[in-house]
Amino acid sequence: MKVLVATEKPFAPVAVQGIKDVILDAGYILEVLEKYTEKSQLLDAVSDADALIIRSDKVDAEVLDAAKNLKIVVRAGAGYDNVDLQAATAHGVCVENTPGQNSNAVAELVFGIAVMAVRNMYNGTSGTELKDKSLGIHAFGQVGRNVARIAKGFGMNVSALDPYCPDEVIVEAGVTPVKDIKSLYADNQVVSLHIPATAETRGSVGYDLITLMPKGGVLINTARKEVIDEEGLIRALRERPDIKYVADVRPDRADEIIAEFPDRVFFTPKKMGAQTAEANINAGIAAARQVVAFLRDGIDRFRVN
Ligand code: 3PG
Repeated sequence: MKVLVATEKPFAPVAVQGIKDVILDAGYILEVLEKYTEKSQLLDAVSDADALIIRSDKVDAEVLDAAKNLKIVVRAGAGYDNVDLQAATAHGVCVENTPGQNSNAVAELVFGIAVMAVRNMYNGTSGTELKDKSLGIHAFGQVGRNVARIAKGFGMNVSALDPYCPDEVIVEAGVTPVKDIKSLYADNQVVSLHIPATAETRGSVGYDLITLMPKGGVLINTARKEVIDEEGLIRALRERPDIKYVADVRPDRADEIIAEFPDRVFFTPKKMGAQTAEANINAGIAAARQVVAFLRDGIDRFRVN
């Protein structure tokens, strides 16, 4: 059995070693394809793979067609919007993710860029503090929960909106549940996005919600660029010179946005939220173990299709 790790953005070497140990221990072969620049490299490498471990790498019908022996794809991470689930199901391929394994890393980055925003991108002027500010968490999944935990250390007042999460879970975390999306934006000085990119959420955060934010509002996006309506974001930034937008997911028009609002936006050059040794080890090894559990014992506990 051949397991292929295909990561355009590689894991830390220590995580690759951990994956290798799990795969070799199970008696399988491991191939690693990193920093590939052409899709054809992935198509070649996957052609005889029985299992595939990826990060944000795109797995579409063409990749699945090329992967004649493929039985399972594990997205080492949370969001699986990069995998064509319908095509995978049609090809008889199981798709899994590794929920929670990289969520602390992403949550820590939220505060890395939140502090940067309230300190005016470190441009030398006097900024403000996170302490006593209100934070609205948009979706209370694994990352949102870690964000809440860290926010309390900063002394923030935390609330969260998540129609898929029972109120008790939110209350148990010492967070105030919010029922109405407009209130989430209108009542919080800082809003942090943790919604997945789905048909329902694509382009769902735009002008109307962003301009509801109170004076000096900071919108943080470590989720997906697709959930933002870029046109609406640009209009909101134009009309509300007090609002800031910081993101780990570069907008399509990032260069243009940076040029127009230099002191009010910040984007990491490449999605860095999950890019820590710890998150790579946790998600990578979990993915390798899930591959072995599936190929050897047919266990598909984290299946998403
Ligand atoms: C995720 O969905 O797990 C995060 O967005 C991390 O993505 P990455 O593995 O591409 O860094």
